[in-house]
Amino acid sequence: MTSPMTNAPHDRLLIIDFGSQVTQLIARRLRELNVYCEIHPYQNITPAGLAEINPRAVILSGGPASVLDQDSPRVPENLFAMGLPVLGICYGQQVMMHELGGTVERGHGTAEFGRAFVSPALTSLDLLNGWFAEGDEQVWMSHGDHVSQLAPGFEVFGTSPNAPFAITADLTRNFFAVQFHPEVHHTPKGAKLYENFIRLAGFKGDWTMGAYKDEAIAKIRAQVGDGKVICGLSGGVDSSVAAVLIHEAIGDQLTCVFVDTGLMRQGESDEVVGMFRDNYNIPLIHADESELFLGALDGQSDPETKRKIIGKLFIDVFEKHAKSVGGAKFLAQGTLYPDVIESVSFSGGPSVTIKSHHNVGGLPDRMDMTLVEPLRELFKDEVRALGRELGLPASFVGRHPFPGPGLAIRCPGEITRPKLEILRKADAVYIDQIRKHGLYDEIWQAFVAILPVRTVGVMGDGRTYDFACALRAVTSVDGMTADYYPFSHEFLGETATRIINEVAGINRVTYDITSKPPGTIEWE
Ligand code: XMP
Repeated sequence: MTSPMTNAPHDRLLIIDFGSQVTQLIARRLRELNVYCEIHPYQNITPAGLAEINPRAVILSGGPASVLDQDSPRVPENLFAMGLPVLGICYGQQVMMHELGGTVERGHGTAEFGRAFVSPALTSLDLLNGWFAEGDEQVWMSHGDHVSQLAPGFEVFGTSPNAPFAITADLTRNFFAVQFHPEVHHTPKGAKLYENFIRLAGFKGDWTMGAYKDEAIAKIRAQVGDGKVICGLSGGVDSSVAAVLIHEAIGDQLTCVFVDTGLMRQGESDEVVGMFRDNYNIPLIHADESELFLGALDGQSDPETKRKIIGKLFIDVFEKHAKSVGGAKFLAQGTLYPDVIESVSFSGGPSVTIKSHHNVGGLPDRMDMTLVEPLRELFKDEVRALGRELGLPASFVGRHPFPGPGLAIRCPGEITRPKLEILRKADAVYIDQIRKHGLYDEIWQAFVAILPVRTVGVMGDGRTYDFACALRAVTSVDGMTADYYPFSHEFLGETATRIINEVAGINRVTYDITSKPPGTIEWE
């Protein structure tokens, strides 16, 4: 997934990926600690490749396999003889024990999924500095198999009711192995464990977002050469950051295409085109394709069908403009890591697709442009940091995310122009309320969804029969999980009154109090 940057000047940490859904969170925790890391799938790492990468330390990720299965994933055979500090997580722990002479057994009632509490052993461990000050520590488990006998040289430093070897280490060799996932938020002291590990391994912690920017620019140049690139601009933070980054890398080999799908919010097209024309000298095509998109969506109400139609039309439009700029071979997109993980399984295998995010899974196979996705390993807040590094205006970097399929996925059921117009007006009032109350920056994302339901109301002594809408506002760190925002009742009441008074066509307002999971942020 992450390609090697063998000329990078930083101490390098290698993450060997066994296919866990949260491997990128390990990378993220390390970037937060200013450590440069590379993720390589286990099958790509040969003993010679390992020596060439020359890491200062290695982390073995979790993964869905069982070491007890034939042909299950393994580490390169020279890894444990290189004298490097190694941290094994979940499957990584099991593979370590299995390779080094311990025993792993199948679940048989000891599988653990979710929250667990680890208690300390008698001896302390530097890896656990800062842990256990207030008693047992909460961790997040997700394992079927478990270690039943430690490899020679290992001792136990923490146990949980179902994982007697929750935290283990071989201190003479600097090998550490844990059964839980320290990279997820539900292991509150997990970041501390990584911090201790990189300190033990002697990392200087001198890697920055500025360095990430330089490396990303070098990668874009290497991928694109002297080819032409078009970049789909949606007005969101991601595509804007991708565009400015790529422009820094290859200058006017880049042309941006802003596609007005007819599914934009009120005033959005002018705002985005204006912001790019006023601030950047990047060639920009403003393509009004609203007839095309709304025509194709006419009568469609299935969420995945809508997403696929939109994804296909985006490609048609991009291909048209690729020709118009003299044959662009590359299409750039602001795809982020959460888009990737929720749209396709890591290994391309049969894991569950939650939604076909238009900039990943919704793309038709026939597309004959190569994708340039420089943000594919980043989370939203990291993209914002990169945007600041690139000098994007603060107001722009702080914008709430807006999805590629736009208002289509906020209009469950059939999409009609009158419904979109009502939705735009209601959304504008809602966002105005949020700004007036100074809440915009506290909220990850807020929007209105217009529901495919009409309800009866009474206004000015007359009967109304209009649409109901739902307000959505969530807090989140990365869009992978979210909580609804706890507005005051006064705020909600005032906003509902304003929407009903100011927006013809809506006579009922509800507030969506679903977290993610089990809900998703968007309604479709
Ligand atoms: P969900 O609804 O999946 O959304 O919880 C998580 C975040 O992703 C955004 N989102 C998209 N962004 N193309 C995008 O560029 C898409 O197809 C898409 N679908 C959802 C959503 O707005 C939220 O920020």
